[in-house]
Amino acid sequence: MEGRIPIAGPSISQREIDYATDAATHGWYARAGEYPKRFEEAFAQYIGVKHAVSLPSCTSGLHLALAAAGIGPGDEVIAPDLTWIASAAPVAYVGATPVFADVDERTWCLSAESVRACLTENTKAILPVDLYGGVPDYDELRKLADEHGLLIIEDAAEAIGSEYGGRKAGALGDVAAFSFHGSKTFTTGEGGMLVTDDDDLHARVLYLRDHGREPGDVHFQNTEVAFKYKMPPVAAAIGLGQVERADELVAKKREIFAWYREAFDDLEGVTLNHEPAETKNTYWMVTAVLDPMLNWPKEKLMAALDQAGIDSRPIFHPLSSLPAYAGQASATAARKRNATSYRLSPWGINLPSALCLEQAQVVRVGQVVRRILGKV
Ligand SMILES: Cc1ncc(COP(=O)(O)O)c(C=O)c1O
Repeated sequence: MEGRIPIAGPSISQREIDYATDAATHGWYARAGEYPKRFEEAFAQYIGVKHAVSLPSCTSGLHLALAAAGIGPGDEVIAPDLTWIASAAPVAYVGATPVFADVDERTWCLSAESVRACLTENTKAILPVDLYGGVPDYDELRKLADEHGLLIIEDAAEAIGSEYGGRKAGALGDVAAFSFHGSKTFTTGEGGMLVTDDDDLHARVLYLRDHGREPGDVHFQNTEVAFKYKMPPVAAAIGLGQVERADELVAKKREIFAWYREAFDDLEGVTLNHEPAETKNTYWMVTAVLDPMLNWPKEKLMAALDQAGIDSRPIFHPLSSLPAYAGQASATAARKRNATSYRLSPWGINLPSALCLEQAQVVRVGQVVRRILGKV
């Protein structure tokens, strides 16, 4: 029997293994900071930003961005309804309120029009998500942010290497955070990176991420109660190997998507990830949204694929529909407002997108989906 096709997984070469071995052997005491520093410098250069701060997760990066911007109780942050809860959870960590705006029908990312409808005098930031490697309309979001004096905190967790207007994801907001979770385009097992061009924000992040003390402090002089968010050297060593292989890894993601486009060619009623002109989608997760007329809700389709040895995931449920936000006024309003998120979500699944995939496996996924949908 053919093996199962995994949903996600990394590409780890001898380079990452050598760096990790070196970090485990030598990355201690005075040398503990070497790999984090090399990873940060290489990552900042790859994204095209001044500063990069290696962290234990993207969630901690979003938390630090909000905290460093001084966002807190009474403030509102507008995020898309259709995303992973990690995009919005840090808004609650700082005591602010997440406002869930709708997404665009084609990019599945934050709709500027919906953001406009959500603005209030308490809005302090817009938090767009580069969903599944796609990007929202940053020109429109930037216009809104400038008009209303708002910060853009970009959740680039899923979009390493993606581009909008020739600039890389991560350089599109005022500050951004990436994830290196095991499923991501670059992985360090778990990990994250905050990036920004803003010197003041960067300085504040360095201070907040080390229990409220200045970098280099050796006298334990904490001047505020803050957080502890650092990436371990062995993880940073793996990350350095990944960023040095950025072009190869991003090209593989795009190749996998091209295989899917071929395998799903002419399959009516199935829409794959969109790539508007002037953007580059890196297809972190190849995603298929089915026409409701086909009558294959995501749970049923996932079960059928599972039977055929193919792993899949549901596209995100609107955050405003989750028990975690039950009873919150902002979720109740979002449920009424966000027609597109609610229309897409029941009918979408993520398809196997691991970096180890081979074309024959994608062809098999295509054949199985056609069989399930009765379109052989
Ligand atoms: C859109 C989005 N935001 C944030 C995160 C959080 O990343 P991490 O798990 O590294 O905190 C993820 C990771 O799954 C994500 O997909």
